[in-house]
Amino acid sequence: MADSNIYESPRLLDEYLLFHYGSSEQVFADAEIPYPAAMREALGFTRRTVSYFGDFTVARGLDLGCAVGGSTFAMAEHCECVIGIDYSHAFIGAATTLQQSKTIAFRRHDEGGMHQELQAQAAGRMDRCSFEQGDAMNLRGDLGRFDRVHAANLICRLPQPLALIERLSDLVRSGGELILATPCTWLEEFTPPSAWPEGDTFSWLHQQLEAHFELMHRCHEPFLIRETARKFQWSQSLVTCWQRK
Ligand SMILES: C[S@@+](CC[C@H](N)C(=O)[O-])C[C@H]1O[C@@H](n2cnc3c(N)ncnc32)[C@H](O)[C@@H]1O
Repeated sequence: MADSNIYESPRLLDEYLLFHYGSSEQVFADAEIPYPAAMREALGFTRRTVSYFGDFTVARGLDLGCAVGGSTFAMAEHCECVIGIDYSHAFIGAATTLQQSKTIAFRRHDEGGMHQELQAQAAGRMDRCSFEQGDAMNLRGDLGRFDRVHAANLICRLPQPLALIERLSDLVRSGGELILATPCTWLEEFTPPSAWPEGDTFSWLHQQLEAHFELMHRCHEPFLIRETARKFQWSQSLVTCWQRK
């Protein structure tokens, strides 16, 4: 999978560094372009999903499909130790560089071959984080249990989402919190249709999780990924917050 994995590409790495760390000024750099207000409201997604965890400090957190680490660093504000796991070596390399150096260079693509060289910067309790490359469908057996597990925009990118979902009850300790976010964009290039939910994603998740988790909250959070100055992905993620029984 590594060579054909789009999340290993330099272009996606640039887009995700801007998505996780870009300021409003960096994302909407061209003052001439009339970006709709809803696009601005979609910034900060990686922090907003984490904000649904309780406002108190816990011992252990896990951020699955962490990409370049924006949500992992946000979780560290209220977790004494957070592990970020992603399948992409490139993304984990960038998250590790940010943790060690607090900064990393990337390109914001404007149009054609035009781009700007920018610096992503991370702050906060980065000493509480560790990053590792791994497969959310086949996590190492000695990860242990967590007070908080976060997986944003991951399940509809997995070839076998049930392989992760069935592991969640082991990963979250009794009373612990689980946040799943998904734009429900099931695509054959990532997930064979035989592994898609048969009905809507929320009903399917509820059916899979209800034996071990209580649904605490359900909402929708927009997110925005800039491809060029004039082309963006604007999506709504379905956010569900669960408590382990
Ligand atoms: C749509 S991105 C979401 C990333 C991040 N959570 C966010 O909200 O920006 C999907 C992420 O899942 C990762 N991923 C895909 N398959 C994976 C797997 N089997 N195990 C762990 N991570 C995976 C990708 O490398 C990518 O970083």
